[in-house]
Amino acid sequence: MYAERVLSGMRPTGSLHLGHFHGVLKNWIKLQHAYPCLFFVADWHALTTQYDNPHGIEQSTWEMVIDWLAAGVDPAQATLFIQSQVPEHAELHLLLSMMTPLGWLERVPTYKDQQQKLDSKDLSTYGFLGYPLLMSSDILIYRADKVPVGEDQVPHVEFTRELARRFNHMYGREPGFEEKAMAAVKKLGSKNARSYTQLRTRFQQEGDATAIERAHALLNDVPGLALDDRERLLGYLEGTGKMILVEPGALLTEASKMPGLDGQKMSKSYNNTITLREDESQVRHKIKRMPTDPARVCRTDAGDPDKCPVWQLHMIYSDAACRDWVQQGCRSAGIGCLECKQPVIDGILREQAPMRERAQTYLDDTALVRSIIADGNDKARQLAQETMRDVREAMGLNYS
Ligand code: TRP
Ligand code: SF4
Repeated sequence: MYAERVLSGMRPTGSLHLGHFHGVLKNWIKLQHAYPCLFFVADWHALTTQYDNPHGIEQSTWEMVIDWLAAGVDPAQATLFIQSQVPEHAELHLLLSMMTPLGWLERVPTYKDQQQKLDSKDLSTYGFLGYPLLMSSDILIYRADKVPVGEDQVPHVEFTRELARRFNHMYGREPGFEEKAMAAVKKLGSKNARSYTQLRTRFQQEGDATAIERAHALLNDVPGLALDDRERLLGYLEGTGKMILVEPGALLTEASKMPGLDGQKMSKSYNNTITLREDESQVRHKIKRMPTDPARVCRTDAGDPDKCPVWQLHMIYSDAACRDWVQQGCRSAGIGCLECKQPVIDGILREQAPMRERAQTYLDDTALVRSIIADGNDKARQLAQETMRDVREAMGLNYS
């Protein structure tokens, strides 16, 4: 139940570019081997800013899912799903909204920032203010403890931690908690009970965080421990009430070093991207058109790779020998810029080849993509329903 679990979401932006691949997707692909992972399309999140023009969202969702699969996100290892197809996210969002202080939402740094940045649009909506809470619901509903995100999203994960703590504190305080927790300790068996008690003391008296981790591991390994007892024992460790929602941690994704065609960060809004499955001829064309060191007006002028965006691509795609060749050739005017660009073109095409191939399988068989997502939706819904049962009960909505 509390096994380590990774969850991350992406807004449906349509086709992804190589910046997404190097920044986010490579990380997901690595994580899917190491942990149970859930990756989802945050289509409701798209509506928080695109509510006035929602019709492209569905198309963008499918395109993005194909890009995930093309990049090597493996549905046999990770669960892929669409947020709106698991309506439990909305129920949790609603229930959490009852106990979320308005000030917490207003203080989230992206709130005022984004409102100002996107000032052509009216973002003084309820949905936009509540967007971090929706993200919290996405995370908490799977009791995910690892959330890979970029730096801009770290405050949202922090917000989620605080909310989980507040929730557990408020609703985990059942009558007779202490007695029930002690009874649960006894059920661990004498050896485990002793270790648990020692670890709890170590945490409470010395603040030793590794003690908490070890105690969590211990509770995970005890066979046949009832769910509510597990929640009590987890909460009792830290001295709060039952731990119904799990506090997640951010797994910071390193900012992508992928430069765009103009040397700025690759981004759709700068119009400097190469998409994951960009046409081969387009790749050649775009790289050939790339600006180079402005000092190299003529072929005979020497250049400086440090002033050239093509060099940044060599840093990603070329080996040491090739980079030496560029450094020497550029500074001595020994090579021309088109010549210099060829290994970059080759490198990108080589990287894209397996993605193009995988994508083709899915483009030829869209039913396969739908069934991967349908499976993922089912798996996600099952996990979400487990959490919702506990949340409803904790909030006094258990009409059984
Ligand atoms: N807010 C994220 C973004 O805009 C996407 C997202 C939504 C997300 N829910 C999430 C990411 C839950 C991680 C976990 O990029
Ligand atoms: Fe840039 Fe290469 Fe031309 Fe030098 S030779 S300016 S590194 S493209």
